[in-house]
Amino acid sequence: MSHTSAGTDTVTAPSAPLSQLRLTRFKTFRDAVLPLAPLTVLIGRNSSGKSNALDGLDVLSRLAEGEEIRDALDGRRRDTGSVRGGLEGCPPHGEDVFTLGCTVDTPWEAPAHLDVTVQVHPDVRIVSERLTGPTYGGHKVLFETLPPQPDSGDIGIKWYNGKPGRRPHASLRCDRLLTTQLPTRLPALSDPEREVVEVAEVVTGALRGVFHLDPVPHLMRQYVPARDAELRRSAENLSAAVSRVAERDPAEFDRLVAGLRRIAEHPIEQVRTTRSDLGDVMLLVDEGGGSVTPARELSDGMLRFLAVSTALLTGRHGVAIGTEPGTEPSLTLVVEELENGLHPSQASLLLELLHEASAREHTQTLVTTHSPALLSALTGADHRGVVVCDRDTATGRSRLQQLTDLEGYSAAMAEGRLGDVITRGLLPGRPPERDYTEFDRLLGID
Ligand SMILES: Nc1ncnc2c1ncn2[C@@H]1O[C@H](COP(=O)(O)OP(=O)(O)OP(=O)(O)O)[C@@H](O)[C@H]1O
Ligand SMILES: [Mg+2]
Repeated sequence: MSHTSAGTDTVTAPSAPLSQLRLTRFKTFRDAVLPLAPLTVLIGRNSSGKSNALDGLDVLSRLAEGEEIRDALDGRRRDTGSVRGGLEGCPPHGEDVFTLGCTVDTPWEAPAHLDVTVQVHPDVRIVSERLTGPTYGGHKVLFETLPPQPDSGDIGIKWYNGKPGRRPHASLRCDRLLTTQLPTRLPALSDPEREVVEVAEVVTGALRGVFHLDPVPHLMRQYVPARDAELRRSAENLSAAVSRVAERDPAEFDRLVAGLRRIAEHPIEQVRTTRSDLGDVMLLVDEGGGSVTPARELSDGMLRFLAVSTALLTGRHGVAIGTEPGTEPSLTLVVEELENGLHPSQASLLLELLHEASAREHTQTLVTTHSPALLSALTGADHRGVVVCDRDTATGRSRLQQLTDLEGYSAAMAEGRLGDVITRGLLPGRPPERDYTEFDRLLGID
C-alpha cells in the first residue's frame, strides 16, 4: 500500500519543516546536530560557527533543487551566487569530502532522514547517500548507495520495494543529489516503491522551502518592475513586494505600516508606491505636511525592517522560492543578525513578528543574533529553541548545545532575563559552590 492509500487523509505528498540539521563533517563542524524548532535562535561568539551551520542548510537546500553539484554551490547559473566560500569551502580544511544530513517531518507517523557525503577533490561527486523514512511496513532504509566506482559518472543504489530478499539495484548520476533523481529514475510500479518516491519528494520539498533573507539596504533603493514581486534574497525588489502586499492583502499591508510606525522616529501618515512610465515601482513613505520620502532616501534600518517584516508577514507566498504543484509548501526562513540596523527598543516588535510567523503551519524561522535586547525579549518557552554555538578549545571544532541544557542555565535565569545575564556578566546571586566558568564562556560573559 502506498502512503496515500494507507488510511491517511493526505491526497498529495506535503512538504514539512525541518526538525534537525546534521553537520557531520562540514567546515568547522564534526558530528554536530542543530535541532530546529518552529523558532530557532542561534547565538555564540564571533567565529564560533553560526554562519557555517547556516551554510550547511544552504548547501542541502541548493542540492535539493536537483542541479549539478558544482552549479548549485558555485552559483554559476544562479542569481543568488555561490554558497559562502563556494564548493571548495565546504569540506573541513585539509579534507576532500563533506557530509550533511537532515530530518524532515512527514505527514505520516514518523520523520524522514537524509544523509549525503559529497567528494570535492579530485572530482565532484556524491560518494554516499541514504534516505530512511516511514513506510506502511514501518521505518525503512528507502534507498542507499552502493560503493562508488571511481571512474564512472554513475553510482549504484539499492532501494526498498517491500519484498523480502535482495533489494533491486539501479544506477543514478553521481553529479547531483540522488534523492532528487528518484521520482524520474525509479520505476514506481509497486506501492512500496511509490512510498520511496513520496518520501523523497517530501524531503526535497522541505529543503527547497529554505529561504535565506539577507537584505542589503542600498540595493532596495531602486525602481523595480512591479511584477517582480516575490521578495528575493537581497530584498532588492522590496518596493515591488510591498506594492503587491498593498494590492492583495490590505490587512497584511496595514500590519506592515503599523510596524513601520512603531520603529520610526517620526510620524508616518501613509506608505504607498509610485510608478514610472515603464511600470516600475518605488516605495514612498509619506510623513505628512508635504514630506514624502522615496525608498531611495529611506534609512537602512527602515529598509531592513520592511524586508524582514514583509517576509515574516507574507510567508511562503511572498518570497522567491518555487512552489511544487501538488505539494504543501513549507517555509524555513533564515535571517542572520536579525536585529541588524534596528534600535534595541524594537526587539519586542521583531519577536512578535517571529512568533506569528513561527506559529503558522509548515513555517519555521531560524535566526542568529548578538542582540541582548532580543534575547531578553524571548519567553521561557522560546528558550527551548535557543542553541549556543562555540568552539572546542582543544580541537577548534564548533559545537552546538541547547541553552536549556547548559549547566548553570536555571541559576542564571533566576537572576534575570537572558540578554541581561549576558550583558551584565557577573551574577552575584548564584550559588557560590557551583563553577560557572563554562556557562559564562559559552554565552560570552566576561
Ligand atoms: N572549510 C572550513 N574548514 C574549517 N574552518 C572553516 C572552514 N570555513 C570556515 N572556517 C572557519 O569558520 C570561522 C567562521 O565561522 P562563522 O562565519 O560561522 O562564524 P560566526 O559564528 O557566524 O561569527 P559572527 O558572529 O562573527 O558572524 C572562521 O574562523 C573560519 O576559519
Ligand atoms: Mg556569522
